[in-house]
Formats: sequence, C-alpha cells, structure tokens
Amino acid sequence: MSKVLILSGAGISAESGISTFREADGLWEKHAIEDVCTAGCLDMNEEGTIKFYDARRVDIENKKPNYAHKVIVELKQKYPHDISILTQNVDDLFEKAGMKEDEIVHLHGYLRELRCRECDEIFDIAYQNQDSFAHECPSCGAKLRPNIVFFGEAAPKYQILTQELNSCKLIVIIGTSGNVLDVTYFAQLTDKSILNNLEPSNAIDDSYFTKVYYAKATEAIGEIAQYIEDFLENE
Ligand code: APR
Repeated sequence: MSKVLILSGAGISAESGISTFREADGLWEKHAIEDVCTAGCLDMNEEGTIKFYDARRVDIENKKPNYAHKVIVELKQKYPHDISILTQNVDDLFEKAGMKEDEIVHLHGYLRELRCRECDEIFDIAYQNQDSFAHECPSCGAKLRPNIVFFGEAAPKYQILTQELNSCKLIVIIGTSGNVLDVTYFAQLTDKSILNNLEPSNAIDDSYFTKVYYAKATEAIGEIAQYIEDFLENE
C-alpha cells in the first residue's frame, strides 16, 4: 500500500492518438455499449464484440507513450514503494514507457490479453486478432474472450483500488470523466487530491479537490509531478 495513488483514465492516452470514450467523437459515440461492452454481449454478438476488440488491439500497436506516461514511469521508478499506479485504460502505453507488469494495475482489463471463458487462463497475444491466436483455449478447449471488464461484470481488481484508497494520503486523478469510478468520493477519502482533465465533467465535483488542472496531461504533468515529490519529501 502506498502514500500516493495515481489513477488514470482514457484522457492520459488521448495525446498519443487513442480515442477516449465519452468525448465528442469518442468510442461510445461510434459504438453501442450494449453491443460490445456489456455482460452477455459475447453471447448475443460474439463476432461483433471480438471484431471490436481486434480493431482496438491493432489500433494500439503503433501508438507511442506521451510525456505524461513517461513522467509517471520515472516517478514510480524513483519512489517504488510510495506510489501506486492504477489505470482504467486497457492500452499498453505505460508499459511501452518502461513500466513493469507488476508496477501497474489495469482495473478494466488489458487489450493485449485474451482470457479463457471457462478456466480463466490469460494469454498475451500482443496485437494479433483473437482468431489468429487460437479458436479455443490451448489449455482446456473452451472459448476465449478479450480480457476486458464489460459493464455489468465483476471487476476483481477493484479490491486493490479499495485497499489503496484506504492507505493513500494523496490521490492524483488524470484523464477520467468520473462516469464509471466515483473520483469525487475518492477525493473525500484522502488528505490531498489532484484532478487533471481537459475540462469539467458533470460526473465530478471539483470543489472536493485540493488542486485542479484543466489542461492537457502533457502540460499539467510537470507541476503535478513536482507536487507529488514535495508531498513525499515532506511526509
Ligand atoms: N489530458 C487530460 N485529460 C484529458 C485529455 C488530455 N489530453 N483528453 C481528454 N481528457 C479527459 C476528458 O476531459 C475526460 O474527462 O479525459 C476524460 C475522458 O473521459 P472518458 O472518455 O469517459 O474516459 P474514462 O473516464 O477513462 O472512462 C472510464 O469507461 O467505457 C468505460 O471501461 C471504459 O475505462 C473506461 C471507463
């Protein structure tokens, strides 16, 4: 458990060219959540759901981490025990910036992975299409699925989020509209809190945050990193 929790969302990868979900032209404007990201959609729309995540996987192959990812990776390397990194993002831009697998928690799953629908074994398939990897689980022969948490499904890694929220003293929220995770509530649980989005969100009450930056993550991250370092040095 750490003193500082950095929790990111789609906005941190926006400047790397990966679409957010709810902004104009975002993914949920072009695709119906109930078709491709809701519990049961693999039964109702298996081909369409798999195709949707195949396309997302191909899309991230050549995307590069931006300055915000890189600064956060450097902070984690400097304060490995004092900072925890949790992300709602399913892309691999933190990893491409040098974050090790065990240094980051993907709360909503990870695009590069497939999961067996029966035995739950996980397979890293990089940027391949699901069917190019295998039609069935190499271990038990059952059907595979993208390792993504759909709306209405359990998100087992939220347990880690709860534990981190209980211990952290500073929470840093970057690039999330707060429609899925109630970040206003999180800010009320911690001594200090930072919010960085492009603009205010109807799902966030920014008056609960110690510091608010409405700016691109790559522009705000320098000051945010300095705040985190000062906070940790004075703890
Ligand atoms: N820098 C900082 N913030 C940005 C930037 C940027 N360059 N670009 C966009 N943002 C902010 C927007 O202001 C918005 O508040 O990122 C946020 C994106 O919000 P959403 O599209 O709702 O993404 P997110 O909050 O991560 O979605 C949460 O919803 O569909 C599910 O599982 C999916 O993990 C996802 C979850």
